[in-house]
Amino acid sequence: MTDLTLEEKASLTSGSDTWHTTPIGEAVPALTLSDGPHGLRRQAERGDALGLGNSVPATCFPPAVALGSSWDAHLAHRVGAALAREACALGVDVVLGPGVNIKRSPLCGRNFEYFSEDPHLTGVMGAAVVTGIQSLGVGACVKHFAVNNQETDRMRVSADVDEQSLREIYLPAFERIVREAKPYTVMCSYNRINGVHASQNRWLLTEVLREEWGFDGLVMSDWGAVNDRVAALEAGLDLEMPPTGTDEEIVEAVRSGRLPEAVLDLAAGRLLELVRRVEGRASFEGWDLDAHHELAREAARASAVLLKNDGDVLPLRQGQRVAVVGELARTPRYQGGGSSHVVPTRLDNAWEALGRPAFAAGYRLDGQPDAGLSREAVAAASEADVTLVFLGLPEAAESEGFDRTTIELPAVQVALLREVAEVCPKIVVVLANGGVVSVAEWQEHASAILEGWLLGQAGGSALADLLTGAHSPSGRLTETIPNRLADVPSHLHFPGGDGHVRYGEGRYVGYRHYDTLDADVAYPFGHGLTYSRFTYSDLDARETGSDEWSVEVTVTNTGERFAHEVVQLYVAFDEERPSRPRHELRGFAKVGLEPGDSERVRFALTGRDIAQWSVSRKGWRIDAGAFTVEVGASSRDIRLRAELTSGGDGYAAPLDRMSTLGEWLAHPEGSRALKQLLQGAPGLDRTDPALLRLAMGIPLAKFATFGIGLTSEVVDGLVAAVRGDG
Ligand code: BGC
Repeated sequence: MTDLTLEEKASLTSGSDTWHTTPIGEAVPALTLSDGPHGLRRQAERGDALGLGNSVPATCFPPAVALGSSWDAHLAHRVGAALAREACALGVDVVLGPGVNIKRSPLCGRNFEYFSEDPHLTGVMGAAVVTGIQSLGVGACVKHFAVNNQETDRMRVSADVDEQSLREIYLPAFERIVREAKPYTVMCSYNRINGVHASQNRWLLTEVLREEWGFDGLVMSDWGAVNDRVAALEAGLDLEMPPTGTDEEIVEAVRSGRLPEAVLDLAAGRLLELVRRVEGRASFEGWDLDAHHELAREAARASAVLLKNDGDVLPLRQGQRVAVVGELARTPRYQGGGSSHVVPTRLDNAWEALGRPAFAAGYRLDGQPDAGLSREAVAAASEADVTLVFLGLPEAAESEGFDRTTIELPAVQVALLREVAEVCPKIVVVLANGGVVSVAEWQEHASAILEGWLLGQAGGSALADLLTGAHSPSGRLTETIPNRLADVPSHLHFPGGDGHVRYGEGRYVGYRHYDTLDADVAYPFGHGLTYSRFTYSDLDARETGSDEWSVEVTVTNTGERFAHEVVQLYVAFDEERPSRPRHELRGFAKVGLEPGDSERVRFALTGRDIAQWSVSRKGWRIDAGAFTVEVGASSRDIRLRAELTSGGDGYAAPLDRMSTLGEWLAHPEGSRALKQLLQGAPGLDRTDPALLRLAMGIPLAKFATFGIGLTSEVVDGLVAAVRGDG
């Protein structure tokens, strides 16, 4: 560091162009960065950040909406490793992904790039992608840190979110990934958090990320997220991307004493450390296109979710007359728009993969009605035993950069489905969409629904594998499908206005809301069918240490086919009046079993799994008492339960003059001190219950005004006594 000039150090803290860091002579090479997250968007030369220009072909793996639905961390790791291989072949040092923001609303235009509404699932899948990418020495870049849950006004909006929701919903995925997978880099988001830009947020980038979680890598900006270079550096933002040509501001700030040189040294040092880390990355001449396409197909197969299968209409049977209806069967929608857009190495479509059965396009992708197309579709369907109707969102409906305003399918597609269902008794709907679409209005017309999300370049053949029964579906929902948009907990607070979005639903995101209220949903979190059946037995939950528990359960395939089950573990709190989400996912395991086979599935729980964030403590708090472990096949299909207890961590919020009588009595030392004082006074148990309830809510200091002898001095004495300084 000492041999670098001030100007050179400043130059390291911004890129040299859209995709490169700044080199210094021979000593410091420029690093190449590239999107991400589900395929490489390696642009020739300077490129652009909006996904406008083309990139060199690379495998388009299933975007996170799909990969997440596989609930298969090992698979995510393999996809990450394949991305790294392509990165090495294309000379990329850092892959800009995975994206691990929480799906707060189904309307977020970028939900296709994110894994789930649940932080545990997101964290586990994100960590697996990171370790996969970094297994070949390529850096991963976890994004967008943090609370970037909408596209509307994304560069300015302030996400106004309370501390507990931040800690329990919006930060844990990042935390897990940082602690477990040790990503080389993190990308800060565009938005503000409670008024402070993520790029200038010292609390976020330094106190939480580095000091609490131990992050030792480099923080880069999202493309264009820096507003004030000096403030960003001071907050812990090391690299501005792309460059704005403002390095001089930093030099000037150091010279004038406004910015300590040590701060610049830290950031420049982290860039040098990143250069050192990726120096050893592997390098390959190309990659096996077939093998990566095959992996993309396997991942796509593992990701589609069979929502419904009345009368076992799927898989298709030999000899059935099959018609395929829907332009999306021939022109697949397989990835989303924006910076993650990949030019695929090849592209499968379901119609061809099914062996080109009778086909009718049925509708136009631009949503314009076309009576001729629907007539042809009805004719094709009326000749068929089963009609596969491919529906979904066209490209224009969802993308990075804007949010949707509806979760309905295009009206022309729903109208087509109704018409086709009138002439064919067996309808299978196959969906293609990045954000959740509502099924409530039309699902009665379909015997089966296969939710295909956006499945990447091999999605077409993967869907054929599942429809024909060559493989059994094994994806599960990572987000609830609500009946109506208005049921979504964030609905009244999305996407906000006037520069702010208020996270009014707090911790009650997704199933945490629906399940706590026992509200109806179309399909619950964790749901997904397959072509076999599974039973759960012999649940064994026990304490293994202080606030450590093990949970074991046996899963058996009682059906006729090899298939996968996704065993889900929730910790639950049954309260009459909920004070926290009714249950939360804390573990999952995907097991593939032959008919008749069983497997013992094991989970470990720790105190953190039952903890809540305490604002007064500024830390996690574990309450003493019972909790329930639930094991099941979705958040609404719990098969077995067991009760465990925790001794708690002994934390009681500190008492002061304004703590209520109830709080004093609930506090171990507080109640002791108070009872001692009240010795001889009429017992609380003899007080009128309504009066007692009223009194419980009154701050102790306020009793001074009621003339019952609890003077201000007495209260001060009590406070001093419980604080140990009396
Ligand atoms: C996106 C990032 C992306 C970057 C570079 C931004 O607009 O938010 O996810 O990595 O562009 O393309």
